[in-house]
Amino acid sequence: MTEAHEAFGRAIATYDDAAEIQKHSAHQLSLAFPNRENPVSLELGSGTGLMTNEFFRAYDNGQLLVTDANPSLVAHCSQKFKRAASMTLLAEEALDRLPSCSFDLIFSNMVFQWVSGDPNIAIARLQSLLAPDGVLVYATIGHRNFHRWRAHLKQHGLESGMREDLPEVWLGQYHEEIIPRDYGSARGFLDMLKRTGAHTSREGYLKHHMRAFKHACDQYDGSDEWHVVYGMLHASHAPAP
Ligand SMILES: C[S@@+](CC[C@H](N)C(=O)[O-])C[C@H]1O[C@@H](n2cnc3c(N)ncnc32)[C@H](O)[C@@H]1O
Repeated sequence: MTEAHEAFGRAIATYDDAAEIQKHSAHQLSLAFPNRENPVSLELGSGTGLMTNEFFRAYDNGQLLVTDANPSLVAHCSQKFKRAASMTLLAEEALDRLPSCSFDLIFSNMVFQWVSGDPNIAIARLQSLLAPDGVLVYATIGHRNFHRWRAHLKQHGLESGMREDLPEVWLGQYHEEIIPRDYGSARGFLDMLKRTGAHTSREGYLKHHMRAFKHACDQYDGSDEWHVVYGMLHASHAPAP
């Protein structure tokens, strides 16, 4: 488990209140759920279960395997959704760990921006776990996310520590949203990130000088834009990469 996965576990108590955009994308994504009776389904990166909730709202008797990279979040969800099976799983390893499974529905809300390497490769590999008429739907953070904060730190000679290598085009992308939000100040913005467990820096990031960072924070007004991308893929007969 990485430092980022641990941070999500530490945010269990604050996540649901602070995760306004994640709740919004979970609901939007649920509108793309296929019209099926009780689909055999896999959720990647359940966190506290915002999206899991949408699943059971859509399918009273759906069969669900809930997974997350962090075992404490898996335990949290299996307490909350007793009907679901659960396991600790990294999205990148799903194909190797679930080789004989096939799912009618695979879904994931706000997780693929955290997978290591190229997220499109992880998505294509997950696609190969679909049953012949299965569907994979996801929402993720796009490459323009928080561009004001990143540009602001750059102007001050600092790095944000946020990922700079997200794809410009996601596999199966069918929709994207730019959502402006005003958090009032740098502190308000950083608090929101911390309360949702999303404040860890990418690997290899060198921490900046505290005084320079504080100065940059003082000059930041706390408003920025979220970039949310939605994707949908059907089963493919091509071998997984
Ligand atoms: C922003 S939260 C989203 C949680 C939930 N899907 C929701 O809609 O609120 C991201 C979650 O993905 C999990 N996660 C991050 N990287 C992962 C990976 N590579 N494989 C599986 N889960 C991962 C984290 O532990 C965390 O619970």
